[in-house]
Amino acid sequence: MPLEKWMPLQESISLKNLFKNISPLGTSPGVVVASPSQQNPDYWYHWVRDAALVMDLIVDQYLKSQNPELKARYLNAIWDYVNFSHLNQHTPTPSGGPGEPKFHVDGKAFVGPWGRPQNDGPALRALTLIKFARALISETKAEEAWRLFGIIKYDLEFVSHHWTEPCFDLWEEIKGQHFYTLIVQYQSMISGAAYVSLVGDSGAAQWYLEQAKKMENVLERHWDKRNSYILSTLNRVGGIDYKKSNLDASVILGVLHANTDSVFAVDDPRVESSLLRLKQTFKALYSINQSGPEGVGIGRYPEDKYDGYSSSGEGNPWILITNGFAEYYYRLAKRYQERGMILVTPLNQSFFKDLGFNLSNGNLKKEDRVFKSLIERLRAEGDQYFIRVKYHVDSDGQMSEQMNRWSGFLQGARDLTWSYASFLTALSHR
Ligand code: NOJ
Ligand code: NOJ
Repeated sequence: MPLEKWMPLQESISLKNLFKNISPLGTSPGVVVASPSQQNPDYWYHWVRDAALVMDLIVDQYLKSQNPELKARYLNAIWDYVNFSHLNQHTPTPSGGPGEPKFHVDGKAFVGPWGRPQNDGPALRALTLIKFARALISETKAEEAWRLFGIIKYDLEFVSHHWTEPCFDLWEEIKGQHFYTLIVQYQSMISGAAYVSLVGDSGAAQWYLEQAKKMENVLERHWDKRNSYILSTLNRVGGIDYKKSNLDASVILGVLHANTDSVFAVDDPRVESSLLRLKQTFKALYSINQSGPEGVGIGRYPEDKYDGYSSSGEGNPWILITNGFAEYYYRLAKRYQERGMILVTPLNQSFFKDLGFNLSNGNLKKEDRVFKSLIERLRAEGDQYFIRVKYHVDSDGQMSEQMNRWSGFLQGARDLTWSYASFLTALSHR
């Protein structure tokens, strides 16, 4: 099936299946289960990170939708999520703060052993809720927007006071300081400062901006000049110790989820350089990438041992990361087009070369003939990643967590909510 035909079909299936995982039967309103799978693996929990990313997509859909019935449905789901988040914030948990990674589907604290805290959660939740609050404000529903203020501020305060503390990464494996966590925390401070200013809380705004400034300096330390890629973790204090390369696709997800304007933005040559290294690494590592479509199935990091069931197997390409790479190229194309200029430096020359463009250092302006063909090429490259996902997903559109590195068959948690959200988000950027 041609891509153009597949995309709208996969879009409606994704939306439908994603919705099945929001407050499904037997769970509290506002719960987003990570997957309906309740054993091998058991993903029947509300993960703060997954839920924030999924609800961010729902806020986008709410903003976009013209259909009153659908709009009401989105709005309902978002308010349920707001209320459930408020409950999570005030439920005593083992980590004792909003960095608690996951909750039972009835809202009770999960008290078993786990990699905690995971401090990307409150930052992502704040970003999603700020987007929602702004939507309400633009619809002149100031009073309703006001109900969000305390919930958002709770997370912002936590981030602003605890970001220097080591925590577990988004893959729940390493305790230390993570690029992914820090860049979403950074953006929560930037967006948070603008948001609290709207309601006249200028003291808080200033404090958040001060933290953001400091975070920026720490983020810079993740750049490894010698290897030409962004290091995912610094100052490791615990958790797995075999991620020797420190090369992780989570840095690209961080760039996408934070969507900053300046530091490590999509068009930062350091990000492009890191992305190329990830692409080359996973292309060589996974057998499925040696045949079939051109697009590369992308995994978490080369040393990964989590196969979707246990951590004594071997890692595979992930659907949500491969979709993320599609999104990256779409967004880069858009960004360059808006700017009307492409900065070529020794850091991103190979990135462009990989796309078939030999460019010399300096500014490529939109008047240049090459500019237009490069933009088209970026879009086409994004499509290749979609084609890769399409190749391994069956006609029923079911999206699990992973694609087996040898056979390409889907494996790990089925109907992973985040997989669907990542497809829909990437598609909207296309
Ligand atoms: C489950 C986690 O969610 C996954 O990311 C991790 O790799 C394994 N447990 C092993 O810790
Ligand atoms: C494992 C992933 O590593 C983690 O990022 C995610 O939050 C959980 N699975 C739930 O989907």
